[in-house]
This record gives sequence, structure tokens and C-alpha cells, in this order.
Amino acid sequence: MIDIKAEQPHHAEDIERLLDTVFGADRRSKAVYALREGVAPIDELCHVALVDGELHGAIRYWPVRALDAERDRHTDLLLLGPLAVDPVFQGAGIGRALVEYSLVLAGRRGHHAAVLVGDPAYYSRFRFERSGARGLHLPGEADQERVLLREIVRGAAADCVGTLVRASAGVPELRPG
Ligand SMILES: CC(C)(COP(=O)(O)OP(=O)(O)OC[C@H]1O[C@@H](n2cnc3c(N)ncnc32)[C@H](O)[C@@H]1OP(=O)(O)O)[C@@H](O)C(=O)NCCC(=O)NCCS
Repeated sequence: MIDIKAEQPHHAEDIERLLDTVFGADRRSKAVYALREGVAPIDELCHVALVDGELHGAIRYWPVRALDAERDRHTDLLLLGPLAVDPVFQGAGIGRALVEYSLVLAGRRGHHAAVLVGDPAYYSRFRFERSGARGLHLPGEADQERVLLREIVRGAAADCVGTLVRASAGVPELRPG
């Protein structure tokens, strides 16, 4: 039986082990990790999948910002990831359950859009699309085609334009008028 539960501090060690198994111990060198440096995850959206009480899947979310220097504006959005499922349990619906459950919660919490870096073949089933992310740029990411956006509120993609930066990164002052 699969249980989706809110991530708790005592899950941290099992999650690190799972992420090492799925993505490799060098995962932190990926460009997307720079968006999480020094930024706390959004606890209320981070979940784990327990099978008979043991952790075999996890999803985390971070706040992130699209900084549009040309228009002197920014938009806050969600960064989904990492999402990982224990290889032994892949294909059993755990990934789907984690993504769908957390995105429903994200909508209820008033989030407008989520971005991720991942495989379009997998994430398209959850309406993460390249088309909505064309205005976004992730510095250091070799394959921008893997930057995908999911509107949570219809039309939100129009505001998701600019360079993806850490949510705590400085924002240029808005000019009046
Ligand atoms: C990708 C991952 C999170 C999916 O979790 P999962 O629990 O295995 O997926 P689910 O069982 O919920 O599968 C949902 C659907 O996605 C499909 N699917 C699973 N992994 C896929 C992949 N890598 N590419 C394309 N489709 C995939 C399944 O066949 C299933 O299709 P269906 O609904 O038509 O039956 C998990 O396999 C994982 O951690 N993989 C290692 C990392 C990875 O490959 N990431 C790729 C995305 S960045």
C-alpha cells in the first residue's frame, strides 16, 4: 500500500539516500541545484511515498523567481524537484501520485505555475510543457529544452519570462510609472 505523506525532518536521511541512488552523488553539480542554494524548500508541498511504511519516493518544491530585466519585473513561481522513485518501485504509479497530489495542493495554496528541468516524455503527462517555458532561461543548463513549465492557473505562463534565479536573489527596484 502506497501512502503519500508530508515530508518530516526524520525522512531527510532516507531521501538523501534515494536521491543518491536515482540521480548519483554528483547531482548537486547540475545547474538547477544553484536555484536551491541557501533557499528553504516549501515544506507544505514536499511529500514522501511510503510503501508498507518505508520511504520509496519523494518530491520537493522550492520557490524560484523569473527575473525579467528588460521589463524591470519579476515573477515568483514553484520549482518542482527533485522527484525520485526507488528503482525497485518504478512504474507502480508512485511518481504520478506524488506529482498529482502535490500539484493539487499547490493550486489550493494559490501558486500560479511550476517549472522543472526534466524529461518532456515523462512530464508532458502532467502538462509540463516546453511551450510555456520558452521565455525562461536557466543559467548553466546545457539543454534548455528540458526546462518545462506547468500552468496551475490558466494564462500564468505569460508572466513566466526571464532568467531563473534563486527566490532570495536581489530584484532590481521597480521604476514608478
Ligand atoms: C521518472 C520517475 C520519477 C517516474 O516515477 P514512477 O513511479 O516510476 O512513474 P509512474 O509509475 O507514476 O509512471 C507514470 C507514467 O509515466 C511513465 N514513465 C515512467 N517513467 C518514465 C520515463 N522516464 N519516461 C517516460 N515515461 C515514463 C510510466 O510508464 C507511466 O505511464 P502510464 O501512466 O501510461 O502507465 C521515476 O521513474 C524515477 O525516479 N526515475 C529516475 C529519474 C528519471 O528517470 N527521471 C526522468 C524524469 S526527469
